[in-house]
Amino acid sequence: MSHPDLAVLADAVARPLELAIVLPTFNERGNLATLVERLDKALAGIAWEAIFVDDNSPDGTSDEARKISQNDRRVRVLHRIGRRGLASAAIEGMMATAAPVVAVMDADHQHDPALLPGMLEAITSGEYDVAVASRFAEGASTEEWGRPDRVKASNLANAIARKVTGVELSDPMSGYFMLRAETLRADAHRLSGVGFKILLDILATVDQPLRVKEVPMNFAARSEGESKLDRTVVFEFLVGLYDKWLGRIIPTRFALFGTIGAMGVVVHMAVLSAFLTMAGQTLHGNVVTEFELGQTLAAVVAMTFNFFLNNALTYADKRLTGFAALTRGWIKFGVTCSVGLLANVGVAAVLVRFGFHEYPAALAGIVIGSVWNFALSSKFVWGRYGN
Ligand code: GDD
Ligand code: MN
Repeated sequence: MSHPDLAVLADAVARPLELAIVLPTFNERGNLATLVERLDKALAGIAWEAIFVDDNSPDGTSDEARKISQNDRRVRVLHRIGRRGLASAAIEGMMATAAPVVAVMDADHQHDPALLPGMLEAITSGEYDVAVASRFAEGASTEEWGRPDRVKASNLANAIARKVTGVELSDPMSGYFMLRAETLRADAHRLSGVGFKILLDILATVDQPLRVKEVPMNFAARSEGESKLDRTVVFEFLVGLYDKWLGRIIPTRFALFGTIGAMGVVVHMAVLSAFLTMAGQTLHGNVVTEFELGQTLAAVVAMTFNFFLNNALTYADKRLTGFAALTRGWIKFGVTCSVGLLANVGVAAVLVRFGFHEYPAALAGIVIGSVWNFALSSKFVWGRYGN
């Protein structure tokens, strides 16, 4: 690792801080040192600090950041345990600095640090409140050909974003932007912090009309590692809209979990009715035993269906990937849900014994089981112990 110039470092601590660059990271170890070098070059003459907000990456990103910070105090680390999520990482990083202006950018070299001085100038001049690096503004380009949804969705996304924020933006989903820290702090308690639509969240939350400067960027190909955010732009928008309007009444994640759970009910009923139909023709045993078997099988199939859908949508920001993590997650989801499953089958079976019709009995079992499932799985599968 190259040590920065001593005169540069002395100057950096002697002058009041001008700019903080917040860099959320998850498994970006190999990208940090070169990124700090690029920041150092791009920000010559500006008193800056960089804050890596790392969610306990298994690849040791936070250790790498601490190593860099040992020799360069402009670099700081916010190491979060038991948390995941780009938006909350960005918010907490921006709240952890004394710099009057804060920027958020990706740590994987897709965002060019050379744009920072121009963005800072737009804000310090007093002409603008927010500067956004845009992949779709006049003069921008993108090397990321593997993600056509981002380009295609942009027109629809723009229309919705304009409605929500009242600002005309070519790239409302950009993860590269800058604003005055006090603008953020004034409304930070009202931000949702869910998902990765942090810029949109800020623009929709802050009541005062914000003057936004768009800077065209060349969205580079990722340098090392892989993308963690593959939920589509349109889906992210729908979630964002829901979160802004109804999220305070029924929390967004619970609403998603519940919607997917309702789809799970359909799967459950289909499996159960198929089983009862087939078993009715082949088995001639005790009717209640058949029902109990069918209810159990249907619950396991629905559980698996719910696990994969929740992983892809409800917890996309904390999504488990790779065969090993998915298997572990599925097992954990199964174990946490087995408490719910016991209650589910037990309640349903008891109701049937008391003479209830099979389908309402199944539904009562499902409702009781799913409250357990949400409470336990959000904590143990995708939450504190889920990393
Ligand atoms: N702390 C933390 N926690 N950081 C995260 C997390 C997380 O859960 N998930 C991703 N990051 C970090 C990554 O390590 C990277 O530095 C940055 O956030 C962006 O993540 P990528 O995984 O590289 O995102 P992308 O390239 O697919 O998405 C880009 O385009 C989106 C718009 O479509 C980013 O620029 C997003 O910010 C942007 O919204
Ligand atoms: Mn990226």
